[in-house]
Formats: sequence, C-alpha cells, structure tokens
Amino acid sequence: MPAEHEPAKGAQIHVGVIGLGTISALHMEGYRLAEDIARITAVCDTAEAAAAAHAQRLDAKAYSDYEELLADPGVDMVDVLLPHSLHVPVVQAALQAGKHVLVEKPMAPTSAACEELVCMAREAGLTFTVAENTRFVDAYLEVERLINDDAIGSVRSVRTFISGSEVERLRDATLWKGRRDGTVGGAVMDAGAHTFYLFGWLFGGVTEVRAQSAKLVEESEVEDNALVTGRLGNGGLFSAEFSFTAEIPWGERLEVYGSKGSIIVDQLVDPPVMLYKGEYDFDGNPVTSVARDVLWWKGSSIAAGVRDFVAALSAGRPPKIDPEDGVQAMRVVEAAYESIERDGARVTIEPRRA
Ligand SMILES: NC(=O)c1ccc[n+]([C@@H]2O[C@H](COP(=O)([O-])OP(=O)(O)OC[C@H]3O[C@@H](n4cnc5c(N)ncnc54)[C@H](O)[C@@H]3O)[C@@H](O)[C@H]2O)c1
Repeated sequence: MPAEHEPAKGAQIHVGVIGLGTISALHMEGYRLAEDIARITAVCDTAEAAAAAHAQRLDAKAYSDYEELLADPGVDMVDVLLPHSLHVPVVQAALQAGKHVLVEKPMAPTSAACEELVCMAREAGLTFTVAENTRFVDAYLEVERLINDDAIGSVRSVRTFISGSEVERLRDATLWKGRRDGTVGGAVMDAGAHTFYLFGWLFGGVTEVRAQSAKLVEESEVEDNALVTGRLGNGGLFSAEFSFTAEIPWGERLEVYGSKGSIIVDQLVDPPVMLYKGEYDFDGNPVTSVARDVLWWKGSSIAAGVRDFVAALSAGRPPKIDPEDGVQAMRVVEAAYESIERDGARVTIEPRRA
C-alpha cells in the first residue's frame, strides 16, 4: 500500500509552481523534460498578469495567493521559487496541506529552520528537498568520477569562486535581492549554499571557517563579496570566494589539488574541465566528456534536478538531494556569518547528523 500522500507508482505528478520569476523558466524546462511523468496544473505569483500568462500557456490554473493553490486537490507537489524570507512559511503551509515540496536554495535561511522543515516532512510522510543544482552540473559529476577513479589521489586542498554581476538587482530597492528582509543575507547566503553543498558531497564537508565580506554596492543592504577559508572534513584546507560585483559572465571555478594530480573546472574556459597529472604535465589533459556551454551549463543542471525530484516521486524513491545535506550547507553558511560578525574569528561546525 502506498503511504497516505504517496502518488501511486507510475502515476502522473501534478505540480504547482509558486513564484514565476527568473528561475522559474529553468524549473519549467525540468517539468518539460519530465512530461511523461509530470504536468504543471497550477501556477501562482502575486504578479497576477504573469500567473495568468503562464497558466494560459500551460493549460493550468492561475493563483495569486499561494494558500489557494495549496488548497487545490489537483496539486500533488509544489515547487517553491520565492524570495528567501518566504521559503519557511510557504514550505510549512505546503507540508501542512499534504503536498510534496521542492524548494529553491537556500532551503531556509537558518539551519534550525531547515531542520524543522525536514522533520515536519518526515513526520508527514512527504517528500521534501532543496533544489540544489550543483549535484547535477556535468563538470562536478566528472570531478566526482575522477576522484572515485583515483585520478588525482587524495584531495589536499580546494579552491572555489562563484562570480558574476548582481549589481543592477542589488541597487534596485523594489527587488528583494539587496534587501535584508527578502534575502536574510547576501552572497554567502545565496552562493554559499551551492559551494558548501559541493564540499559536503565531494570533500567530506567543512569542519571550521574564517570569513570576511564586503558590501560594495552602496544602495544594497547585504554583502556582495565574501571570502571564506577553512578546513575540510578530510583535513585539507579550502578557500571559497563569492563575488556579485564581477563584470564577467556568470561562472563557477573549482580547483582540486590532490596527491597525484589536480583538476581545474572553469565554466568560462574551453575546455571547462582539465586534469593535470603532476608537476611535469604542463599541457594538462582536457576532459572531453564535458563540453563548454557558457549559457546552459547551469540551466541544464537546474532542469535535471527538477526532473530527478519528480522521477523520485513517481518511482517512490528518495530524490538524489538528501535534504540533510542542504541543512549541513546552511550550518556552514551560518558559521561563515558568525565569523564575519566576529571579524574573521575561527568558527567550528557540528558534523552532519546521520
Ligand atoms: N539554483 C540557482 O542557481 C538559482 C538561481 C537563481 C535563483 N535561485 C533561487 O530561486 C528563488 C527565486 O529567485 P528568482 O531569482 O527567481 O527571484 P525573482 O525575484 O525573479 O522571482 C520571485 C517571484 O516570486 C514572486 N512572489 C513574491 N512574493 C510572492 C508571494 N507571496 N506569493 C507568490 N509569488 C510571490 C515575485 O512576484 C516573483 O515573480 C530564490 O530562492 C533564489 O535563491 C536559484
């Protein structure tokens, strides 16, 4: 017998999308890829015209009040694509309404709130996780494979950089991006959720951090640049840098230095993944399984994550993203903010709970 809220195996999943802003097009691409198992039956945005236009295009119902969408019996799961400060109330209401939930990152702006959501979903027997696209980025999947194949030996140190320009959005007082009451935090909250998930997935997590930040966009209320350094669970050191004022196409860079070789990922260069087999490997080895795609490398990973969530619901298996890993990423984000508050002091992080 399926659990109370579990869709029958193989049944089509009926999806309600809440929040029809920037990221929604990529989530909708995920549902298009999953059209054999899922269909968007309802959409919601306080911008009524946007909701009506999407509803007409998708042959779905339009709502401007998310509570009304949650009361719709024709919705099995909801996808929450809202400003950060709305994640907790909307996910809580969705779980109370008996809906499975996928929520964009950060799952919630504090680790305690993340834990409460995970616990609430578990007790209700509902599937819930965070839409952490990092796990579906082709280049990082290749890094996982190379590490597992022992291509670089044991990992000694890691460096990351997430960069792009949010200057215009941060300046705009009508948008939530640069307002503390909408984001709860800036670059560390927004981009750190990705990097610290990556560290948990591939490098044994983070055990301590030291961090500093800068706010260069005068009209904004949140930090737009940050440097977080610290220790990985495997004993090595890391540095993670975030810049929302970099005038360059959005990209991510990952450098992994191991005992036998190193891997450099840079989404803007061709090829984006290079493997170096030691100090005399001056030319390096292009990892040809990952093609350069500056426009779509991220979008395709977001769509793949959405597809995985509905495929998991349809098959009655857990999604690839364990929500506990989203909680742990948020513990590292919090530790970084504590360190920033304490002028770069060392802050330790509790290990991930089983
Ligand atoms: N995975 C990624 O790389 C990635 C990239 C961008 C954004 N995101 C995440 O996606 C989420 C949304 O970001 P975005 O850039 O799409 O934001 P956005 O501002 O473009 O869109 C938010 C939408 O929510 C609507 N909205 C606001 N309050 C509402 C309410 N009470 N009820 C219904 N609708 C409401 C707004 O009208 C807007 O259309 C955030 O959590 C963000 O961190 C993730």
